[in-house]
Amino acid sequence: MKISIFGTGYVGLVTGTCLADVGHEVMCMDVDADKIARLERGEIPIYEPGLDAMVRQNVSEGRLRFTTDAATAVGFAPLQFIAVGTPPDEDGSADLQYVLAVARSIGQHMQDDKVVVDKSTVPVGTADKVRAAVQQELDARDAALTVDVCSNPEFLKEGAAIEDFTHGARIIVGTDAERVREIMRECYGPYNRHHEKLMFMDIRSAELTKYAANAMLATKISFMNEIANLAERLGADIEQVRRGIGSDPRIGYHFIYPGCGYGGSCFPKDVQALARTAGEIGYHAELLEAVEGVNQRQKATLFAKLSQAFDGDLAGKTIALWGLAFKPNTDDMREAPSRALMEALWECGARVQAFDPEAMDECRRIYGKRDDLALVDNREQAIEGADALVICTEWKAFCSVDFAWLKQSLSTPVVVDGRNLFDPQAVKRAGLLYFAVGRGDSLRTP
Ligand code: UDX
Repeated sequence: MKISIFGTGYVGLVTGTCLADVGHEVMCMDVDADKIARLERGEIPIYEPGLDAMVRQNVSEGRLRFTTDAATAVGFAPLQFIAVGTPPDEDGSADLQYVLAVARSIGQHMQDDKVVVDKSTVPVGTADKVRAAVQQELDARDAALTVDVCSNPEFLKEGAAIEDFTHGARIIVGTDAERVREIMRECYGPYNRHHEKLMFMDIRSAELTKYAANAMLATKISFMNEIANLAERLGADIEQVRRGIGSDPRIGYHFIYPGCGYGGSCFPKDVQALARTAGEIGYHAELLEAVEGVNQRQKATLFAKLSQAFDGDLAGKTIALWGLAFKPNTDDMREAPSRALMEALWECGARVQAFDPEAMDECRRIYGKRDDLALVDNREQAIEGADALVICTEWKAFCSVDFAWLKQSLSTPVVVDGRNLFDPQAVKRAGLLYFAVGRGDSLRTP
């Protein structure tokens, strides 16, 4: 079948490419002409394992094409996906301007009936607004056409987006129309062959499902970070506690890894947006606010630990930083804990010497050239002349380290590990001062 996708960001490009890959004819539209030109040449604007080859193959086989022209994209297909960004407003609520601009554009150009699919993460009630925006344009030109709007949230993790799309746990479709069920069944048929993954529900429940899933996962992380902070002060080891509770199938091992806080484009934004939605309807979402508050505090712990190690005097110090991305296998630095740390270090006059396997260009783009930031070529260079090491991202390449070499290379033997990569005993045996997350024993030694 023919499918149009508005927005070639993370969600739009993965969705379009995976749908083309199973034989659909897909047209991806974006207003960014430069991005579209690059995509047509097979250059992928984001780092996502496997995506570049998949885009190139589907482009060369003619199933995936790109355009900057809205009328062309609207005319192309009966199914119109909206996958544009919903950045947070200053007050934390999702900014719907791009979603509604696409809706108006569909209303302006459509010449036959359409099914519009909200793929972007949008607050509960947005489908009604999208429908109204399309209808307003139809009314303005007296067009007697039908538009159905459905909600089809995505559950892609960066770094595993293709796997999540092709082997996801579920495909949620919120709709009140039989015709939409049929067309969505056809669209996702190739990914629904082995067992029934499609879950049809009403539109508002589908919209809320997306937020509830992300808020639940973020809650698990903040909960573990809270317990880690307690463990640290009580002399317990959170890694043993984690294994202890994860073995209970009601709790499970997923998303209970303590660390330096969650980042990325979804959890921080979605937790805040859901709390904001609650506020708008007069409900005080205490738990959601606490989840966000604990995460903010957690991001600040790396700096607090460094500061403790240097008795509050970080001015003039050089801090080696391993890992800039908010998690491994991505170059994304949105809401990354590394940013909170670097900004706090610069504030007190310290210098950062950083390495990340993928996010160096992104870091350059965000912070530009500055005297107190050196972006170096490998993890060894980051250590050269540094006073201490901080680990912000658990890239595989950081997991095995010669601690004796580290001890020799750092002018002060301080290692702050925001991801609990090492055995505290082994680090300490090498004579290093090790500050990890929630490992009471490692905190007591210095
Ligand atoms: C998330 C959801 O997992 C995905 O379903 C949704 O569609 C988008 O948001 P993503 O942001 O790509 O995906 O990353 P994810 O792997 O979920 O990690 C999010 C953050 O939580 C990262 O900063 C990660 O380091 C942190 N995290 C994750 C922990 O601190 N502990 C954990 O146990 C798991």
